[in-house]
Amino acid sequence: MEISSSRMKGRRFSLVMIMIILFMICGSTRSQLTVDFYKRSCPNVLRMVRREVINALKNDMRMAASLLRLHFHDCFVSGCDGSVLLDGSDGEQNALPNINSLRGLEVVDRIKAVVENSCPGVVSCADILTIAARDSVLLSGGPAWKVLLGRRDGLVANRTGAEELPSPFESLDAITKKFNDVGLDTTDVVALSGAHTIGFARCAMFNNRLFNFSGSDSPDPTMESTMVSDLQALCPLTDDGNKTTVLDRNSTDLFDNHYYKNLLNQKGLLGSDQILFSSNEAQTTTKALVEAYSSNVTLFFNDFVKAMIKMGNMSPLTGSNGQIRNNCGIVNSS
Ligand code: HEM
Ligand SMILES: *[C@@H]1O[C@H](CO)[C@@H](O)[C@H](O)[C@H]1NC(C)=O
Ligand SMILES: *[C@@H]1O[C@H](CO)[C@@H](O)[C@H](O)[C@H]1NC(C)=O
Ligand SMILES: *[C@@H]1O[C@H](CO)[C@@H](O)[C@H](O)[C@H]1NC(C)=O
Ligand SMILES: *[C@@H]1O[C@H](CO)[C@@H](O)[C@H](O)[C@H]1NC(C)=O
Ligand SMILES: *[C@@H]1O[C@H](CO)[C@@H](O)[C@H](O)[C@H]1NC(C)=O
Repeated sequence: MEISSSRMKGRRFSLVMIMIILFMICGSTRSQLTVDFYKRSCPNVLRMVRREVINALKNDMRMAASLLRLHFHDCFVSGCDGSVLLDGSDGEQNALPNINSLRGLEVVDRIKAVVENSCPGVVSCADILTIAARDSVLLSGGPAWKVLLGRRDGLVANRTGAEELPSPFESLDAITKKFNDVGLDTTDVVALSGAHTIGFARCAMFNNRLFNFSGSDSPDPTMESTMVSDLQALCPLTDDGNKTTVLDRNSTDLFDNHYYKNLLNQKGLLGSDQILFSSNEAQTTTKALVEAYSSNVTLFFNDFVKAMIKMGNMSPLTGSNGQIRNNCGIVNSS
C-alpha cells in the first residue's frame, strides 16, 4: 500500500512537472502580444477605433476591404509594424502591388488622431490597423475575434519586400511558398484568400485572362463565359486598366463564403483566386478546402479567424523595439 501510493504520488508529480515544462515551452514560443495590452494606458482604444471605422464605412462600404488589405500588406512585409503606412517616394506605397491601389491611409490617420487625443504616444499605428481590419470584417458581416495587441511601429519601410507581395499572376505553388516563408500554411492561403469576398480589383489585375490567356488567343478556360464577356466589355485592352469591378459578384459588401461558391462556378475574378479550385496543383492541395468552405460558412469563419490571428502575430516588434509613431506616415524625429 505504502509503496504503491508513493509511486502514484511520484507519477503525479512528474506529470505536473511535464505539464509545467510544456506550458513554459508554449508560453515562450508564443508572441508577447496580449488582449488587454492597453487596459490601463488607453482603456477606450477599441471603442474609438470601432467608432471611426463605422464612420468611414458610412461614407464608403468598400473601405472595409481597403483596411483589411492594408493590414495584409503591412504584415507580409517585415511583420505587422506599420511599415506600409510610411510615406515617402522610397516607401512600400510605391511598390507595384501597392501603387494606384492602396486605399484607407487617410482613415488610419484619422483614427490615429482621435486615439492620440485621448492617449498621446501610447497606441501604435500597427495595432490601430490590426483593430481596424478586425472591425472591418465584423462590420461587413464576418466573424468577430479578440485582437492581440502590443505591437510597436517599425523604423523603416521595405520597398523590396513590398515588391515581393503575392501577385495575381503567380502559380499556386509560388503563392503558397510566399505564405510558407512567413509561417503561414496551405489552409491559411485558402482561408485568407476568402478576404476577396469583399472589395474591388482593377482591370489590369485580371485582363490577362480575358483575350489572350497565356498566348492561347482565347480567354482563360477556367472563367465562366458570361463573366468573360461582361469583363471584356468593361476592360477593353485599349483602356489603361484602372477601371474596377467587384471581387465577389454575388455579395460585394458582405463578408460571407460566396467567394468560394464563385470558385466552384468558375467565377473567381483574379487568376490567383480561380487556381485555388481549378489548377492542377489544387487537386491535391487546396481544392477540397475550397469545397468545404463553400458549403460550410462556420468552417470558413473559424479558419479565417485562426489565419488572421496568425498573420497578425508575424514577427511583431515588442518591448523596446521600434517606437510608437506620433504620425503614422513618418518615423518620429528623435
Ligand atoms: C493569396 C494572395 C493574394 C493575391 C495574389 C491578392 C491580390 C489582390 C489584388 C490584385 C487585388 C486588387 C488590387 C487592385 O486592383 O488594385 C486585391 C484586392 C484585395 N485583397 Fe488581395 N490578394 C491576396 C491575398 C489577400 C489577403 C491575404 C487579404 C486579406 C486577408 C486580401 C485582401 C484583399 C482585399 C480586401 C481586396 C480589395 C481591396 C479594396 O477593394 O480596396 N488579399 N488582392
Ligand atoms: C525586406 O524584405 C526582404 C524581402 O522580403 C527581406 O529579405 C529583408 O530582410 C527585408 N528587410 C528588412 C530591413 O526588413
Ligand atoms: C497572343 O499571345 C501570344 C504570345 O504572347 C502572341 O504570340 C500572339 O500574337 C497573341 N495574339 C494576339 C491576337 O495578340
Ligand atoms: C492608372 O492611373 C494612374 C494615375 O492616374 C496612372 O499613373 C496609371 O498609368 C494608370 N494605369 C494603370 C494600369 O495603373
Ligand atoms: C447570390 O447567391 C444566392 C444563392 O446562393 C442567390 O439567391 C442570389 O440571387 C445571388 N445574388 C446575386 C446578386 O448573384
Ligand atoms: C461546419 O464546420 C463546423 C466547424 O468546423 C463544424 O462544427 C460543423 O459540424 C460543420 N457543419 C457541417 C454541416 O458539416
